[in-house]
Amino acid sequence: MALAEKLPLGACLFVTDAELTRLGLTRAYQDAIGADRPVVLFDSVEADPSKDTLLAAIDAGRSAEVTSVVAVGGGSPMDVAKLAAYLLGSGDNLDEIWGVGLATGQRLPLALVPTTAGTGSEATPISVITCDGGVKLAVNATPLIADWAVLDATLTLGLPAHVTAATGIDAIVHAVEAFTSARLKNPLSDASAREALRLLSSNLLTVIEQPGDLEARSAMLLGAHLAGLAFSNAPVAGVHALAYPLGGLHHLPHGLTNALMLRHVLAHNAEAARDHYAELAEILDPDCAGQGSQSRAALLIQRLDDLARRSGLALRLRDHGIAFEEAPVLAKEAMKQTRLLVNNPCEITESDAQRLYEAAW
Ligand SMILES: NC(=O)c1ccc[n+]([C@@H]2O[C@H](COP(=O)([O-])OP(=O)(O)OC[C@H]3O[C@@H](n4cnc5c(N)ncnc54)[C@H](O)[C@@H]3O)[C@@H](O)[C@H]2O)c1
Ligand SMILES: [Fe+2]
Repeated sequence: MALAEKLPLGACLFVTDAELTRLGLTRAYQDAIGADRPVVLFDSVEADPSKDTLLAAIDAGRSAEVTSVVAVGGGSPMDVAKLAAYLLGSGDNLDEIWGVGLATGQRLPLALVPTTAGTGSEATPISVITCDGGVKLAVNATPLIADWAVLDATLTLGLPAHVTAATGIDAIVHAVEAFTSARLKNPLSDASAREALRLLSSNLLTVIEQPGDLEARSAMLLGAHLAGLAFSNAPVAGVHALAYPLGGLHHLPHGLTNALMLRHVLAHNAEAARDHYAELAEILDPDCAGQGSQSRAALLIQRLDDLARRSGLALRLRDHGIAFEEAPVLAKEAMKQTRLLVNNPCEITESDAQRLYEAAW
């Protein structure tokens, strides 16, 4: 395996989750890497990984004096691996590097192998960790970009339908929010976002209906990767800002929380982002090219909502044990996501957020 040849000799911290080891998905990678060096298996990463989990991974790596870090898994193991590699290499203090651009040290060699399509974390400089009180904090810094990303679609063939759906919608939201990002949108992020949206929107229902379709799975994995490249340049915004409190407080999967808020936040943005939504609509439906921008923008929102619905996800907050009365608390939490809210095409105030949660209920 080419990846095993690229890693330095010396012990390797292998980060994954217990479900993936149980399924045997990580075996070929563990064996190939382990042929030339000791492998320190850390497979206790949970969905939306906590700071304690990250610190435990770092302890495991430090006591074995590892010289590289590999993750095989979804966004959760990859995000733990990225920060573990960085903190083991740099010796920085985690609580001093939350935010953008504060991690400037040297990390250990790092390879990421996604098993969902997906967060695109294998392409991004971001790691998201759930901290005290369920608040999701992120480190966003260039040293977190991996040395190697391996897109191996065979790993995604057995993804359960609800994970395929949720992670696929997450990737679609990355593409859409990057394309409309208020601050750092640029021609490169636009090109990645457009191609990502094309690949993802035309293959999502195929991989749900025919999970073993390798060509469609490959298109999804590439789409998620390109969406990751897009939002590494032009960061995500309001959908993610309002999704995070649902994940942090209710432990719902990240992609599902994006799906729950998608339609409502896009409707809120529809006027401010009208021309950009109109452009994206033509990717989903080339026949709409002759229509005015307002109707194309509305069409995009409708088409994305249809995709989320047809992917089998239950799309109301009430379907997931959330009470209507929680809207004010969720809105207050969402306001803490200032790093994301500043990228939204228009302002989302606390009372807007409350109204959007109520609409999503
Ligand atoms: N770093 C970034 O740029 C970035 C971007 C978006 C989201 N995130 C973070 O990523 C995390 C979510 O990652 P995710 O959506 O990939 O899910 P995940 O890694 O949490 O995995 C979700 C579930 O799917 C299972 N699974 C994963 N791959 C599988 C496979 N091939 N076959 C069978 N089961 C499989 C896992 O065992 C787990 O139970 C969140 O913490 C989110 O905040 C990070
Ligand atoms: Fe995301």
